[in-house]
Amino acid sequence: MKTLIIYASVDGQTQKIAQAIATEIQNQDQSAVVNLAALAAAEQQDLAQYDQIIIGASIRYGHFNKTLEPYIARYAELLNRKKTAFYSVNLTARKADKNTPETNAYTRKLLQRIDWQPTQSAVFAGALRYPQYRFFDRFMIRLIMKITGGETDTSKEVEYTDWEKVAEFAQRFKS
Ligand SMILES: Cc1cc2nc3c(=O)[nH]c(=O)nc-3n(C[C@H](O)[C@H](O)[C@H](O)COP(=O)(O)O)c2cc1C
Repeated sequence: MKTLIIYASVDGQTQKIAQAIATEIQNQDQSAVVNLAALAAAEQQDLAQYDQIIIGASIRYGHFNKTLEPYIARYAELLNRKKTAFYSVNLTARKADKNTPETNAYTRKLLQRIDWQPTQSAVFAGALRYPQYRFFDRFMIRLIMKITGGETDTSKEVEYTDWEKVAEFAQRFKS
């Protein structure tokens, strides 16, 4: 069984989740082949040779990576013929009532817009890493956190990702 995980990550959390999914799949089946590819390098991958394809992407200022939808559009037909999954990563999903594909607006709207119907979809809460952000981003994220009742201490790094939920998602991809 060959699995490809494509991730669009800016600060690394979506990539970290991709790696956790890969590890989980390999732990279940030592003979499983799992390849990871950044979306920027995904064109080098021949999707046809994989049995399972997972695509993950994070949100920045309300949007997924701008190359995500063109990529999905190009391969929707092929993706629809395989076992596939989509996961999104954002901080809105730290709230229990906004962490499913139906209740997370970014994810729901994306899935409505695209021609690809993933076999399964998930939404994972991301990470808040104030010390790593540029001044402008730190200022903006703090403002959003203030409005939405989140962490406002800019010396902090908080990982909201539910790793149990990530593992359960990956377990549905065993061979
Ligand atoms: C500059 C910036 C903008 C962000 N904008 C949003 C947003 O609009 N909505 C949201 O829910 N999360 C937002 N986030 C949170 C990210 O989705 C979260 O940090 C995620 O873990 C990033 O994943 P990545 O490291 O794979 O890019 C933003 C984060 C940053 C740094």
